[in-house]
Amino acid sequence: MDLGVCYYPEQWPQEVWAEDARRMSEMGLTWVRIGEFAWSRLEPEPGLYAFEWLDRALDILHAAGLKVVLGTPTATPPKWLVDSDPAMLALGPDGQPRRFGSRRHYCFSSETYRAHCARIVTALAERYGGHPAVLAWQTDNEYGCHNTTISYSAAAARRFRLWLQTRYADIAALNRAWGAVFWSQEYRSFDEIDPPSQTVTEANPSHRLDYNRFASDEVAGFNRLQTDILRRLSPGRDVIHNFMGFYTEFDHFAVGADLDVASWDSYPLGFLEDFWFSADEKRRYLRQGHPDVSAFHHDLYRGCGRGRWWVMEQQPGPVNWAGHNPAPLPGMVRMWTWEALAHGAEVVSYFRWRQAPFAQEQFHAGLNLPDRTEDVGAGEVRQVSREIADVGRLSPCARAATALVFSYEADWLTKIQPQGRGYSALRLVFEVYCGLRRLGLDVDIVDPAADLTGYQMVVAPALPIVDEALAARLMSLTAPVLLGPRTASKTVDFQIPPGLPPEALRSMLPMRVTRVESLRGDVDLAVRVVADGSVVHGKAWREFIDSPLVPLARFDDGGGAWFRHGHFDYLATWPQDALLQRILADMAERAGIVCVPLDEGVRLRRRGGLTFAFNSAPEERPAPAPQDADFVIGGPTLAPGGVSAWRGG
Ligand code: GAL
Repeated sequence: MDLGVCYYPEQWPQEVWAEDARRMSEMGLTWVRIGEFAWSRLEPEPGLYAFEWLDRALDILHAAGLKVVLGTPTATPPKWLVDSDPAMLALGPDGQPRRFGSRRHYCFSSETYRAHCARIVTALAERYGGHPAVLAWQTDNEYGCHNTTISYSAAAARRFRLWLQTRYADIAALNRAWGAVFWSQEYRSFDEIDPPSQTVTEANPSHRLDYNRFASDEVAGFNRLQTDILRRLSPGRDVIHNFMGFYTEFDHFAVGADLDVASWDSYPLGFLEDFWFSADEKRRYLRQGHPDVSAFHHDLYRGCGRGRWWVMEQQPGPVNWAGHNPAPLPGMVRMWTWEALAHGAEVVSYFRWRQAPFAQEQFHAGLNLPDRTEDVGAGEVRQVSREIADVGRLSPCARAATALVFSYEADWLTKIQPQGRGYSALRLVFEVYCGLRRLGLDVDIVDPAADLTGYQMVVAPALPIVDEALAARLMSLTAPVLLGPRTASKTVDFQIPPGLPPEALRSMLPMRVTRVESLRGDVDLAVRVVADGSVVHGKAWREFIDSPLVPLARFDDGGGAWFRHGHFDYLATWPQDALLQRILADMAERAGIVCVPLDEGVRLRRRGGLTFAFNSAPEERPAPAPQDADFVIGGPTLAPGGVSAWRGG
């Protein structure tokens, strides 16, 4: 449980570096991430490396006892490189190249750019691979940030054709898989296929899904190019990448498989402002952030890192990039830090040491102001650092009793074919996560390919594609499994299965979905629970199901809304909170998992024999602790933005 900070020595005069390093260490920080945007200073002219400044910075940081994560600078190719090879630029869906002047302007598929990256990463790793301060590497920075996963460049088109050839081998197979007879879309050879952009109306969904799969593989391959070099030249160092929040354009589990540690960049107030939350939620959690957003990503990236994960960038104050950028409530930087640690983070690192008075992020806070005096966040970091010392080392998070399955491919699919505006696998999974967390449960978010045996309850709200292997694994479980609407509704080729959904699971789930309807967000779908007659609600989506099963809940017209058969529960609608709570609590009880229904805004997380409670509500809340709790942080009352932790459950 360490704290760190992102630092840009190249942005500051060398005279202040030693003082900065001394103050970092005195503040309780032990890790510093540097270098990830410094290409123009590392290689100011083609092939001419300028490493002396970095030698000096590393020596200064090392002398102050700090450990360094050295970033590879490949998110910011310099001007000379772009000018010498304009074909390395990514192309947007409008066919226009991304221009130089910000960052992430490269195309993952450019082979010449990959060669440049291999060269600079090799040069850095040869020089610093054994440096005593460099104990970890970060590859690139936030793959996909600013919507840059997908490019429509000539290089991408070329590599896509090869990718398709490998997948389908023969063009007739592709035509069948894509249903290309529809609208005369048939191809005679792989060479005829372009990326799916600039079509008159929507492009073929199978074509688009394959392009997503291809683009995702390109990110993983680009990352692997770097991790291979780093492992060879800098053995024993952890290789990390920093992922983003609510970003799904590539499969993070696949990239995570090549990392030692997954990390992510946590900006709770920016995410609340810029995502789908209601105006009420945005007002209510304005300065604290939504109670589940950080935790959702902590649990997701713990999964991507196979247990090892960090927060690489933690919001330290107001940011600059969201629609509006409020200041966090005093205490939030501390609460966010403890929340990450409670979810198993090895390191929480703040973005950034000092606010830069120039260029794009002038309004983005740091731990220090541009004049080198401390900002509010710094005081909270000192406090957390003292508290960590008092609490002592905590063992990593134990496996949770509940697994929540998240599929990146499912999110691509629902983006391509939402069928109702706003239908998103990510959002559905997130809302179900919120439901589990309101019941006080710890959750592991896992890849559909993960081993699900041993979980007491498995929740899979959004799996539109269930291939044979996944179907076999789901059917072989004995723990209760919740399946959401649209489960197994498409084949791997993005077609309705011949025997209608959910065909892949039919041998254990006797039902056929014969019709679906999507509904505006302001339409409530009443659902009556058969057992007690209570009325709860679904929204957005309804399936008409033909089945011999007797439903546990019905829509107004008598059609089934919630079915159970064997270990499967199936939902024929997108559940609103009360319906969701009802189902999850019922399943947890069957699974033998004890729920702790929580007050609004309060959440729990267990780690290392401690139970942590967090309050994101703007009012005080009682901590849901036993009467005689032995508190190690805080006490029985949680202030807004407050944290308490006690020994035991
Ligand atoms: C992240 C990025 C940082 C910085 C930060 C600002 O997306 O990795 O470089 O831009 O956001 O919040």
